[in-house]
Amino acid sequence: MKLVRTPLLLLLLLALVAACGPARRGEPFTALQLEPAEKKGREHFMHHCNPCHPGGAAGLGPALNNKPLPRWAIRLQVRHGLGAMPGFSKTEIPDEELEAIIGYLKALRAKGHS
Ligand code: HEC
Repeated sequence: MKLVRTPLLLLLLLALVAACGPARRGEPFTALQLEPAEKKGREHFMHHCNPCHPGGAAGLGPALNNKPLPRWAIRLQVRHGLGAMPGFSKTEIPDEELEAIIGYLKALRAKGHS
């Protein structure tokens, strides 16, 4: 009996360890070296943009980290929205927060995180 049960228990334990192992989801963010302003941008990005552009990658919206989007284009898109993307007013995202978000997006692309 014992001989049969032990490997089963071991397998169960291994499965548990694998399931609870280090979470990989947050990795790209923790590995990315950011300037203080870019870190602020990341906070605002997480709040306003991440639900649709998870980590700068594609979600409901397209990926933002794989193309050279000029600052003015990002600004225009955020202020006016397009298609399924809502526009954000200056009360929702003040100019300095938007500039920080753009800085973060530039850093994401420049530092090769996709
Ligand atoms: C409700 C979901 C949603 C949120 C929130 C959102 N987006 Fe979008 N975003 C989209 C969708 C959908 C598109 C594609 C719009 C289209 O072309 O029809 C898009 C497109 C874009 C584009 C253009 C990308 C391209 O390939 O041309 C930029 C830049 C962008 N979003 C930036 C942002 C930023 C910055 C924020 C946060 C301030 C944000 N988005 C928040 C859904 C969202």
